[in-house]
Amino acid sequence: MKTYFAQLEQAMAQTSSFDGQTAKIIHLTNAHGMTASFMDIGATWLSCTLPIEGQRREVLLRSPTMAEHMKQDAYFGAVVGRFANRIAKGQFAVDGKRYQVGINNGDNSLHGGVEGFDKKRWTVVERSANQVVFALHSQDGDQGYPGNLDVKVTYTLTDANELSIAYEAHTDQTCPVNLTNHAYFNLAGEASGAKSLDHMLQLNADYYLPTDAGLIPTGEQKPVLGTSFDFMQPKRIGEEFLTEPDQQTAGGYDHAFVFKPEVTDGISAAAVLIAPKEDVTMTVLTTKPAIQFYSGNFLAGTPGASKTYQLYDGLALETQYFPDGPNKPEWGLNNGVLSSGDCYQHQTVYQFEF
Ligand code: GAL
Repeated sequence: MKTYFAQLEQAMAQTSSFDGQTAKIIHLTNAHGMTASFMDIGATWLSCTLPIEGQRREVLLRSPTMAEHMKQDAYFGAVVGRFANRIAKGQFAVDGKRYQVGINNGDNSLHGGVEGFDKKRWTVVERSANQVVFALHSQDGDQGYPGNLDVKVTYTLTDANELSIAYEAHTDQTCPVNLTNHAYFNLAGEASGAKSLDHMLQLNADYYLPTDAGLIPTGEQKPVLGTSFDFMQPKRIGEEFLTEPDQQTAGGYDHAFVFKPEVTDGISAAAVLIAPKEDVTMTVLTTKPAIQFYSGNFLAGTPGASKTYQLYDGLALETQYFPDGPNKPEWGLNNGVLSSGDCYQHQTVYQFEF
């Protein structure tokens, strides 16, 4: 374990990050030999290892070095915000006032804009053997967003082999807030050569959000029933891959799936991912209304820990509010907008069985 941690530190904390200082790396371990490592840059979940058959299996994708981490646009393991996924043309209105935030993905704003939360240095405010708490102050006007926003993210590794992520945020002006973690999973192992498409997935979601070519939801909530988006029962991801125009537009799965409201209580299984050889199962429990299931369609050529990644070398399951929510008044749930005085509070748990 110690050697593994030392290698991780060597990779990520030898050279300086965006602000000229080196990253701070934090390791958590549990009673069963599972580990989870984090860094203060982006409050990033860097590594997750499971002890399987006497080996340490890394189930997260990441960059090989800090220098590469700073160049990638995969958002490996980072907390993304203020607004996860896209806001069309980076424009929205709150309280009758229009705002323009940074454009960094075609015509649109992605994951908080040019210098999103993934690129910021967070403060470690608490830590113990099984928990670390990161905090970030995003000042009024940061990336064009209104209000001073204070965010807290708590990672806990439990002895039930769960990695729990609790999110909290407050603002002094009404502002879109949609936080998630952008971990990429490969339950066969980061270096295994297995693909996202080889995994089995179950999503307790009966609607999905089709997108336009810029990956902005069209506004329609489409029933999954009878389509390749139906993951109500566990299905191999590759089984109906790219078979329909809504997938072809996105180069695969890269869509928000709307959970059945009854599974968003934080204790029900909202999503289940099963390793190709069925030796690892990961269950996702969450209080958030949707999940962006992204099959790794833009990964090709991105330098990774064990190799240069190719298409579908990992997949992301990002619990969140709906992409472009602030521009879709018909969707409800405050459209992903946090009022001043209210508290944004959510939790997602990734529970591993192996
Ligand atoms: C995902 C998004 C993808 C891609 C990826 C980062 O959350 O859905 O379209 O932008 O982030 O490479």
